[in-house]
Amino acid sequence: MGAYAAAYERSIADPTRFWGLAARDIRWLVPPDRVLDDGAPPFYRWFTGGELNTCDNALDRHVEEGRGDQPALIYDSPVTGTTATYTYRELTGLVARFAGALRELGVERGDRVVIYLPMIPEALIAMLACARLGAVHSVVFGGFAAKELAVRIDDARPKAVVSASCGIEGGRVVPYKPLLDAALDLATHKVDRCVIRQRPQLHADLVRPRDVEWDEAVAHAQPADCVPVAATDPLYILYTSGTTGRPKGVVRDNGGHAVALRWSMENIYGVGPGDVFWAASDVGWVVGHSYIVYAPLLTGCTTVLYEGKPVGTPDAGAFWRVAAQHRVKALFTAPTAIRAIKKEDPHGALLAGYDLSAMDTLFLAGERLDPGTYEWAAEMLGKPVIDHWWQTESGWPMVANLRGLEQMPVKAGSPTVAVPGYDVRVLNPDGTTAEPGTDGDIVVRLPLPPGTLPTLWKDDERFVESYLTRHPGHYLTGDGGHIDDEGYVWVMGRTDDVINVAGHRLSTGTMEEVISAHPAVAECAVIGVHDPLKGQVPRGLVVLKSGVLADPEELCDELVAMVRDQVGPVASLKEVAVVQALPKTRSGKILRGTMRGIADGEDVSVPSTIEDPGVLDALRPVLRPPTAP
Ligand code: COA
Ligand code: AMP
Repeated sequence: MGAYAAAYERSIADPTRFWGLAARDIRWLVPPDRVLDDGAPPFYRWFTGGELNTCDNALDRHVEEGRGDQPALIYDSPVTGTTATYTYRELTGLVARFAGALRELGVERGDRVVIYLPMIPEALIAMLACARLGAVHSVVFGGFAAKELAVRIDDARPKAVVSASCGIEGGRVVPYKPLLDAALDLATHKVDRCVIRQRPQLHADLVRPRDVEWDEAVAHAQPADCVPVAATDPLYILYTSGTTGRPKGVVRDNGGHAVALRWSMENIYGVGPGDVFWAASDVGWVVGHSYIVYAPLLTGCTTVLYEGKPVGTPDAGAFWRVAAQHRVKALFTAPTAIRAIKKEDPHGALLAGYDLSAMDTLFLAGERLDPGTYEWAAEMLGKPVIDHWWQTESGWPMVANLRGLEQMPVKAGSPTVAVPGYDVRVLNPDGTTAEPGTDGDIVVRLPLPPGTLPTLWKDDERFVESYLTRHPGHYLTGDGGHIDDEGYVWVMGRTDDVINVAGHRLSTGTMEEVISAHPAVAECAVIGVHDPLKGQVPRGLVVLKSGVLADPEELCDELVAMVRDQVGPVASLKEVAVVQALPKTRSGKILRGTMRGIADGEDVSVPSTIEDPGVLDALRPVLRPPTAP
């Protein structure tokens, strides 16, 4: 039996022993009484009775163990022309000071802090400072609009918000403070204090006494020590799109998270202490939480924080420049970034100038890795390209080719095999196991391994209803696909109304809520359609209220602007069409999946439950992409 098969079998047969051994790589202040607490299914808790501090494991511990002078963080920002390196000792000092500043603003263990920051070192410092105090951070991605930020503030009810005067998107300065102020006005929860990082590119007006500048806040702050927390205490809440307009607050605990992420670095990514790891993502997404911030630092690696784009900052060689300059061993990004590079530099001419000899592997996740992109990257780089599949809820890979443990042959289009700890299965609608090669719901048999979501923030009921009810005893991933007869998992796409735009997870439900609020709109549907660069983009279809005499073009522009304004530019909704009617089942459900299939040029079968097939036929010319045969 190979190393992978042996580890996988051990993890499923005896999870307590498997994760108990992995937990030895974490510094516990009080060792756990139990590895897996399975006393109240379907809720499971890992490492109950244990106490630790995640920031201690990510920073202080490494300083004490001799890594004080090793770079912990390299900030590389082509958009501001800055590169800065922080050693573990320096970063520990900065985090302790900022934790002290937060404490002086009233933040204590268990309090929430919303972080709305661009990709600057302060984002990572603020996250770790919360961890240090035992406070719970909730980072909100900068591309979301004020309303989305307000929804998250109302759900997390933070004591403080940490933000900046601006972000920089390619060549554009994006003011953050007006968005924050608007969100705080919209939110019903009142936030006492905001810490604002003034950036040289734009000065923000402060609202005194609520707002305080970062520098002012840390000037007289006493460095704070790490506060011991229970392994089961929340480390963070990260909101993610569900099928409704209301985002889901995915909770991450401290103990299980530290153990799982530490294990994943060596076994999945093949990197260890001292190696340079670069996840080219954003701290606003789970990839950023896990693989820009926590996993590399828990492992004693050097992490790279990149404030730039794959293309245009300044060119499609940017990723190769960063990887070469900082001697990156493992690079992790989304397939869409590689497609953007490929589009601008199809023959990889820009690769030639860079020494990528330190680079061992390219990891891709966040959306399906199409075989064309896989093959291009593998050929250009001449290095292993690893697809792996996971989601905000899992926090770390569920299916992967385990580069560090045992690399399996690649099958382009499949993220390979179930990661130890995840009993991945494919079920038919009636709950029976699908035959190999047959598509169904991809689920994970409970208990999920450590590091995965224990629940949703203050909403156990929604957690059970969303994930654990459709197939009792199993976690529903929301993805469909199959497992082949060699155990390779093939993830074919979401089975719900979540879409994935440029590696960003978005809810069509949220966009529909915004569009339906327009006084001229009777009903609408937003579907995700295939896009050669972004994987998917949203497309809106609206039916007008009878008697409305709006100019369709003007109305559509208005709706696009509303979505940009209320959901955020990241939604990337550019196309809306006015139609006579939407196809529905006899019970009134809009046939979004069928419309999506037609838009993608698939040979879709029309459900027998359709109310009026004529409605769908009338829509075909609107749905079909202009380039489709
Ligand atoms: N703050 C403010 N605005 C933001 C933002 C942020 N943090 N992130 C994105 N936006 C804006 C963009 O400026 C853009 O605005 P525009 O419509 O005015 O041009 C819009 O949101 C859409 O952004 P994006 O989806 O990033 O598209 P793009 O055309 O700017 O870039 C790619 C396309 C492929 C280069 C880019 O999406 C990319 O680098 N993707 C990698 C994805 C990734 O890292 N995913 C994380 C999961 S691993
Ligand atoms: P997020 O929660 O933002 O990480 O998005 C998770 C979703 O992205 C998953 O449920 C999948 O639909 C999709 N996804 C992520 N990685 C992959 C992958 N490697 N292959 C296919 N789909 C993926």
